[in-house]
Amino acid sequence: AKIRHHKWELKYEFKSPDCFKKLVITINGRSPGPTINAEVGDTIVVELKNHLLTENVAIHWHGIRQIGTPWADGTEGVTQCPIVPGDTFVYKFVVDRPGTYLYHAHYGMQRESGLYGLIRVSLPAGESEPFSYDYDKGLLLNDWYHKSTYEQAVGLNSKPFVWVGEPQSLLINGRGKFNCSKPGIEAGVCNATNPDCSPYSMTVVPGKTYRLRLASFTALSALSFEIEGHNMTVVEADGHNVEPFVVQNLYIYSGETYSVLVKADQDPKRNYWMSTKIVSRDAVNTTNGLAIFNYYPNHPRRNPPTMPPAGPRWNDTAPRLAQSLAIKSHKDYIHSPPQTSDRVIVMLNTQNRIDGFVKWSVNNVSFGFPHTPYLVSLKHNLLHTFDQNPPPDGYDSQNYDINSVAKNVNATSSNSIYRLKFNTTVDIILQNANTMNPNNSETHPWHLHGHDFWVLGYGSGKFNISTDSANYNLVNPIMKNTVPVHPYGWTALRFRADNPGVWLFHCHIESHFFMGMGVVFEEGIEKVGKLPKSIMGCGESKSLYKP
Ligand code: C2O
Ligand code: CU
Repeated sequence: AKIRHHKWELKYEFKSPDCFKKLVITINGRSPGPTINAEVGDTIVVELKNHLLTENVAIHWHGIRQIGTPWADGTEGVTQCPIVPGDTFVYKFVVDRPGTYLYHAHYGMQRESGLYGLIRVSLPAGESEPFSYDYDKGLLLNDWYHKSTYEQAVGLNSKPFVWVGEPQSLLINGRGKFNCSKPGIEAGVCNATNPDCSPYSMTVVPGKTYRLRLASFTALSALSFEIEGHNMTVVEADGHNVEPFVVQNLYIYSGETYSVLVKADQDPKRNYWMSTKIVSRDAVNTTNGLAIFNYYPNHPRRNPPTMPPAGPRWNDTAPRLAQSLAIKSHKDYIHSPPQTSDRVIVMLNTQNRIDGFVKWSVNNVSFGFPHTPYLVSLKHNLLHTFDQNPPPDGYDSQNYDINSVAKNVNATSSNSIYRLKFNTTVDIILQNANTMNPNNSETHPWHLHGHDFWVLGYGSGKFNISTDSANYNLVNPIMKNTVPVHPYGWTALRFRADNPGVWLFHCHIESHFFMGMGVVFEEGIEKVGKLPKSIMGCGESKSLYKP
């Protein structure tokens, strides 16, 4: 195994990813940042220098379990103190499984400032996947806002509440197109001919098969991705081999990765559109993201002769649920789940109000960070730094109507955590509900740090512990690290609490997490090795930090 050393300089720079000029966080001058390529078993070292002048930072390696290195998870407030301007922080961890993973900022809502990229872990030479292809390409999908993260965060935390709204555009590999001729745009800010925003073009050779590694980094949007006139075979999800199935459009939620195989088998005399469209929310003013599927030797910038595909209807939930249910483990790569669990935690997802502020909660508790990272507090017994009353393992399901606005929308806020018994099996039931608006329920992509979980089932309506759990897929469930809970539906997960550390589990929508939609799990803290001093320095960890 190799050591792969990276030196990254983070900066704010003016960029125009969708033709509109704004401040973007770059890594060595680029957004999206460079792809980390490695082989299974390699050690990744990223030496990160924060040149953001007036902003802290932390980077999370999404999907990497950090076995033995829980301090390298990059979750500000949980596993480390923020990296202050001028400081250099070194992340060092092993990539122990093949597959497609992400990295992105994990400080406030900073991911949407453009600090994100792909991690590609390949098998050692001689070993092969259960599918074959000629070329391997990454497609990073994102949504894009023109307002700064600061302005958005302040709005979300104001009375009256200022919602971030739908994104201004959708990006594919960091490029999108905002209509610069919309009224009200200041002169010089938007330039339709800026090369930053010319569409991404992927050149394909007729007859060849391409593995596309799709990853969604969206701040808010659930997406449907398609390639005009081409079917896609889904083969990988969050680093696990999928029993192959064919789709025309792939639904992808923030924090998920998929590999699909596409054969360049259409008319080679023309180009085709690749497109993303927002689903699950009515985003009429956001135009679809477009890129070009370019058949060699046509000009890569030549637009296809057809209209881009319209994509599925935004409010059609059934095909999305069906696709979630279609994702099963590849038959030769089944990791059998434990057939029973030791603990079941039901998590009701609701939108709430606390002192007039709008929040999101789990079982009516809205999450907020303490000043000292949990990993340090727990390891060094600084337990007074956060609320020691455990959060609830469920909600009053007898008396709660998930199909209408709650009678009492008030919640409480807390920084308490779930302490899991080491080496036990835990079930999580994500239960969706109506928001504070009548006839409205949203899609939430939930992401678990430090683990993969088995996806045991999805359903609509209120989860019933006796009938629904009897239908769990305990035979060939896919393992993932991010999973959606569909509107008015439920999703059931199972994982082993076998990775010593402190791990966040949260909605991957930036604003939802910022508004409290997350929880923290601790397991086996006594087995965590000596913490590096570099993660300390804030809150009460100051007292431990003597350089
Ligand atoms: Cu991709 Cu906690 O995040
Ligand atoms: Cu959410």
